Amino acid sequence: MPLPCAAGFTSRAAMIEEIKQAKARALRAIQQAATADDLEKVRIQYLGRKGIFKDLLAGIPQLPADQKPAVGKEANLARKAVEENLNARKNQLGAAKPKAVKETFDITIPGTRPQYGRLHPITRAAYELIDIFARLGFEVVYGPEMELERNNFDALNIPQEHPARDDFDTFFIQDDILLRSHTSPVQIRTMQQRKPPLRIVAPGKVFRRDTPDASHYPVFHQIEALAVDENITLADLKATLDTAMKAFFGPDTQTRMRPSFFPFTEPSAEVDISCTFCGGKGCKTCGGKGWTELLGAGMVDPNVFKAVGYDPEKYTGFAFGLGIDRAAMYRFGITDIRLLFDNDLRLLGQL
Ligand code: DAH
Repeated sequence: MPLPCAAGFTSRAAMIEEIKQAKARALRAIQQAATADDLEKVRIQYLGRKGIFKDLLAGIPQLPADQKPAVGKEANLARKAVEENLNARKNQLGAAKPKAVKETFDITIPGTRPQYGRLHPITRAAYELIDIFARLGFEVVYGPEMELERNNFDALNIPQEHPARDDFDTFFIQDDILLRSHTSPVQIRTMQQRKPPLRIVAPGKVFRRDTPDASHYPVFHQIEALAVDENITLADLKATLDTAMKAFFGPDTQTRMRPSFFPFTEPSAEVDISCTFCGGKGCKTCGGKGWTELLGAGMVDPNVFKAVGYDPEKYTGFAFGLGIDRAAMYRFGITDIRLLFDNDLRLLGQL
């Protein structure tokens, strides 16, 4: 704004009016200043060496002597008011720092995408299996990971000196309590609490003193199944497994049983499914066999019924124990069980 030449003022009144207006403009500019930089510009404009007030004061000496004091006083008051307002506004802006941040905030920059969590493949496999067996009429029950030796071994027809204990002998906590080596003791716990008929599945962690390699880990997961009633036969077992495996691995999945031995079942079987990698043709993963071993199964041994007080002449039953980790590996195409326990997000993020 061009300044009126101070020397051109003709009267005291006109000059005082000019000072008042300059002061009013200065105070408005101070209030409108949004940053310390803006404020500094206002200060220079009004109070600087070549500022507006300098110009105004420069006109005073040219006034008639009797007018000088009044105009001088007005000019000093105005100048003081502007200085005080500048200081006050400066403090205000200092306290309200975020305003400066706001200026540099660019709302067009894309935000940081949060990572989505998802269920671990073992959990997913467990949930799906539970869901499948629930639809087949099985109830879900749980047993403790610390188990009595009696439930883990003796009641399952594995007496003290039986060689089958070697595979399972594991982490003992005290003489008669151990970390369970399989989920089969949940069969015992359930039968001791209930009368037949019953159909249960029991998922959970199990522990063995295995050295980790591509197919072993000292902690892994099983889902145990038990059905007890009058007239349960091996055909019920076979049909249940076949239906469940097709539901889990896909409708083309075949199931086969090979004779085997478990102390708690008679007869016993190892159950294979057709290899999910090659569809049964034979590949590297199944060692060219076209089949992969997935679980142990059989008809409940009469000695187990006796241990829980069921009449083996009246009731029959089937049982099986399936490795959840192994099922997850076949299902999701993972060839090393250790990957399931590394918690490496590069793997988990893909599944
Ligand atoms: N408990 C066995 C194991 O951990 C698996 C098993 C085999 C469970 C046969 C059963 C069964 O219920 O009938 O190796």
